[in-house]
Amino acid sequence: MGLGLRFNIVLLSCYLVGLTLSLWPFYQLSRREAMEQLQAQIDVLRAEALSVRKYTTDEIRPLLDDQSGIQFLPQTIPSFSAHTVFRNFRKYYPQYSYKEAALNPTNPANRAKDWEQELIEKLSANRDIDKDITVRTTEEGQQYTVTYPMVIKDESCLTCHSTADKAPPSMVALYGNKNGFGWKLNDTLIAQIISIPMSATETKVWRNLMLFIGISSGIFLALLVLLNILLNRYVISPVNRMAKIAEAYSMGDTSNPEFQYEGTDEVASLARSFNRMRRSLDYAMKELEKT
Ligand code: HEC
Repeated sequence: MGLGLRFNIVLLSCYLVGLTLSLWPFYQLSRREAMEQLQAQIDVLRAEALSVRKYTTDEIRPLLDDQSGIQFLPQTIPSFSAHTVFRNFRKYYPQYSYKEAALNPTNPANRAKDWEQELIEKLSANRDIDKDITVRTTEEGQQYTVTYPMVIKDESCLTCHSTADKAPPSMVALYGNKNGFGWKLNDTLIAQIISIPMSATETKVWRNLMLFIGISSGIFLALLVLLNILLNRYVISPVNRMAKIAEAYSMGDTSNPEFQYEGTDEVASLARSFNRMRRSLDYAMKELEKT
């Protein structure tokens, strides 16, 4: 096996081992960064929902309180406005979803589905957890879902969520006396569940990975070509030329001129020794011919 081939095989093996070892940490890093970006999006959406809730409580409810006695207006309920705003938002981002899910909701549309119920029960059993993060596989692809427990901290919530006789009659007339009652202070049987799609994130992680492989392979190939040119020019080609002259000389052909190689490196020193040896041989041969 030639020097060049051996040199290339060693370099290529080193590159492949290095690439394989660095791919996993790079993938992990890239994915973690993508997850942080997803969480940042969720934080913004949640802040938006909480702001809508607060706006409803502070600005809308006082304005419409009197009217709610005659006809119940769901528009004065924070949960109703947060859901309504998000429904409008979904016209622009259909794969995003927001839900204030409850095990026993006032509005049946907010009833927790099986997987939501599991999350609510998990958070209710572990009160120290402030949020749960899950990656779910749905028909629309993978979804990044964050669930925040909602604790009933305010006594005023129980006006409408404890028993039907305490709730405004207009509300009972609209929603009935079965759903959304029996809630207690410090209950966590409801949760805010926000889901956003992960498809763009996955694509980004893979694109980063491909870019990493592409750039590192490009740099490696450029280095390989450069090293091959240098190896050929400074080692392989002079050694081959020297070998040819030595070969010819050993077959009795002394017509070749002296080997020319300028420089101060090891091959230059070999070339000088080679020429000196050849001159000594010439001289010895001539001396022999004389006798
Ligand atoms: C004036 C009555 C009233 C008060 C006070 C009230 N709610 Fe509600 N709540 C409702 C109604 C009505 C709905 C259903 C709205 C809809 O149609 O989406 C609701 C829905 C909800 C929902 C969504 C799940 C479900 O039951 O449909 C949550 C969560 C919620 N309320 C939490 C609270 C909290 C927390 C408080 C106290 C800060 C509170 N509510 C105070 C009337 C009230």
